[in-house]
Amino acid sequence: MKILFLYFSATGVTEKYVQVMKQYAQEKNCVCEVQNLITPESRQKPIDFNEYNGIIFGFPVYSERLPTVIEEWFLEHNFNLSETNGNRSTIFYTFGGRDLEEANQIAYYLLNKVGFSLWLAGEFVGSHSFNVGKGWNLAGNRPNEEDFTLAREFVEKSIDIFNGNGTLFQMNTPLEEYKPFIPPKFFGPFLNLIPRRVGDTCQMCRICETECPTEAFNADEGTVDVSKCILCMGCVKKCPEHAIQTGNLTIAALMIQMQYRFTRRSTRKKKSRIYAEFPQP
Ligand SMILES: Cc1cc2nc3c(=O)[nH]c(=O)nc-3n(C[C@H](O)[C@H](O)[C@H](O)COP(=O)(O)O)c2cc1C
Ligand code: SF4
Ligand code: SF4
Repeated sequence: MKILFLYFSATGVTEKYVQVMKQYAQEKNCVCEVQNLITPESRQKPIDFNEYNGIIFGFPVYSERLPTVIEEWFLEHNFNLSETNGNRSTIFYTFGGRDLEEANQIAYYLLNKVGFSLWLAGEFVGSHSFNVGKGWNLAGNRPNEEDFTLAREFVEKSIDIFNGNGTLFQMNTPLEEYKPFIPPKFFGPFLNLIPRRVGDTCQMCRICETECPTEAFNADEGTVDVSKCILCMGCVKKCPEHAIQTGNLTIAALMIQMQYRFTRRSTRKKKSRIYAEFPQP
């Protein structure tokens, strides 16, 4: 059994889940390959899907959708799938304990459009990407052992599916029409989300530039092209000198919590789950 993990991870949560899943799949004698789709080059690499018995996709939820670059990858990549092998897929989402909303419908639409069959979905809670900024603290204690146990269960079920068992994922509310994401206009405290370089500790390693999923960070200037930035927080998290920061996010966090009616406590207690039907009955 050969499995490909295809994922996107900017602040490391999805990657953590992939590592746990991969280790478990290997213990079950599967041959595993992993590919992170974070950089533009990695998203251009051709993939021979026919080499695999199944694909496990893993994506963070951004504004209740998939990251824009991933939605674009599905729409623009040449998939060239055969009907016998490599087209069986399962998908997991990581999220900061708030909500997934349309992400399920969008992923289902995109997978089917390019020729994958979807059999199972999982949603796994993880520390919110914006926790890298001061004053934002959602699901900061996640993933925990309970999440990882469920992640292993997800792999167990995926292996069974890739062995030819199971039933197709049932989407009860399919997307009627795909509409690309329209980025919100930044205003007030949300301007503080935009990362920038501060202080004089930068060593010019250029990780912020080379690892940016949208080529938005300019290492020479220490600034971000706001029209390209998807606020993934990868540059803040990955800078080895901690030279990249957001502004204070306290007010932005409170505004989001009021708008969507959730609390820090509810995100900490949110359960991860696995399902083969959406919405669940
Ligand atoms: C731009 C952006 C939008 C996000 N939107 C949501 C959301 O709508 N709901 C949610 O629960 N978490 C949201 N999150 C949190 C991430 O989904 C979560 O932290 C994820 O586990 C990060 O994965 P990564 O570390 O692999 O990049 C968002 C994060 C970012 C960067
Ligand atoms: S990642 Fe940090 S240290 Fe490296 S170039 Fe960017 S700001 Fe400088
Ligand atoms: S500049 Fe924006 S898109 Fe690039 S790594 Fe930083 S937060 Fe992510």
